[in-house]
Amino acid sequence: MTERGDLPWPEKHRPQSREDLVGNTDAIDSLKTWMASWEKRVPKNRAALLVGPPGTGKTASVGALAIDLDLELVEFNSSDKRNKGAIETLVWRAASQQTLDGRGRVILLDEVDGLSGTSDRGGVSAILKVIKESMHPIIMTANDPESPRLKDLYSVCEVFVYRPIEHDEIVGVLKMIASGDSVSVSLEALERIADGAGGDLRAAISDLETHVKRGNLDDVLRTSRDIRHGSDATLRRFFMSVDPAIARDVLSDSDLDYDSLLLWVEENIHLHFLDVHELENGLDGLSLADLVLGRIMNSQNWKLLSYFFDFMASKVAMSRSETPFRKVEYERPSWPLLVWQGSRSTDREADALAALADRGLVSRSRARRTHLETIHRLVKLNPGSFKRFAEWLDVDKKALKQ
Ligand SMILES: Nc1ncnc2c1ncn2[C@@H]1O[C@H](COP(=O)(O)OP(=O)(O)O)[C@@H](O)[C@H]1O
Ligand SMILES: [Mg+2]
Repeated sequence: MTERGDLPWPEKHRPQSREDLVGNTDAIDSLKTWMASWEKRVPKNRAALLVGPPGTGKTASVGALAIDLDLELVEFNSSDKRNKGAIETLVWRAASQQTLDGRGRVILLDEVDGLSGTSDRGGVSAILKVIKESMHPIIMTANDPESPRLKDLYSVCEVFVYRPIEHDEIVGVLKMIASGDSVSVSLEALERIADGAGGDLRAAISDLETHVKRGNLDDVLRTSRDIRHGSDATLRRFFMSVDPAIARDVLSDSDLDYDSLLLWVEENIHLHFLDVHELENGLDGLSLADLVLGRIMNSQNWKLLSYFFDFMASKVAMSRSETPFRKVEYERPSWPLLVWQGSRSTDREADALAALADRGLVSRSRARRTHLETIHRLVKLNPGSFKRFAEWLDVDKKALKQ
């Protein structure tokens, strides 16, 4: 078994009681009142929705309050299967049955804005049905208040809004952790960690852990900021979105440039699109976006940028229709960015790439980086093969010229 001491620090220091929670006082106290009210009678709304940015204590509040109120906690988190069927059976069972020992129960559906795409519409209606008749409080959490998933839920839920944790409160928690674990960290370092966390207490605790274990604070902060504001956060929010408008905002808010965006998405798309059709549609959208970007780079016609965003947001992100959103570890693009940028497609190449992508069942960008390069090399070795390749791909010979 894992010792508590081996856990990552944000887990190790998971609040065990109301007193351990900082910030969002009103939200947490009203949540507690609502949860406690069940003992007397079933309240008007049988469900609660906690909405707010990551690392503000939404999940932690439910855990801590369940302990304080002596409730049995039944948790369905985002890595569990939570489609219509699972909700109708597992969640329904938890909601409709008494506990064995007669204690109260609270049901947590964590991160409901991450429920899967279109195929999961049934998921929300299944949740609505369970809520209507639940014997126990159902609490849901979500990061994105505008997620269309939440639209139908708001009206049947008590809504509790969580805000980013204040700088001083973060410093306070970090100080307690440092002194509890007898590690000495300067107040200045704690302040800087809190500054870098942007109200995300989990991130701050995790940065403190890295700093204590590895040293150099500047590196810690630089890396964690990259992860938070760069590729990781962008990809997570991009693949999570079920509304093109939000996916578009995610991309335009990102610190990544357009080339890197494409590369990161391409490298990681298979982690979220587990269904063949999803992957096919996603890669299709990606090649269109890739093509537009190629044209922009060649012509410097930045008016086209809007199409790039459209393809990424309405085709790529929206391709997730079956697979539920899950948290994954993203991989760095394996192909060096510079090589790729150097060989960006020209319009002339477009036909060849489309044909190669088609035959090789790969995206156009991958076709350029692997197949087309190979052809170029073979042609160099054997200039006579030029015609054969052109015929095979059914493209004009010019399309294969370098
Ligand atoms: N308000 C808070 N008070 C105390 N600790 C917190 C708070 N918010 C987050 N944490 C720390 O961060 C970890 C993750 O918080 P969590 O509740 O999972 O955040 P959220 O669900 O809002 O993303 C907790 O285990 C705890 O260590
Ligand atoms: Mg959470």
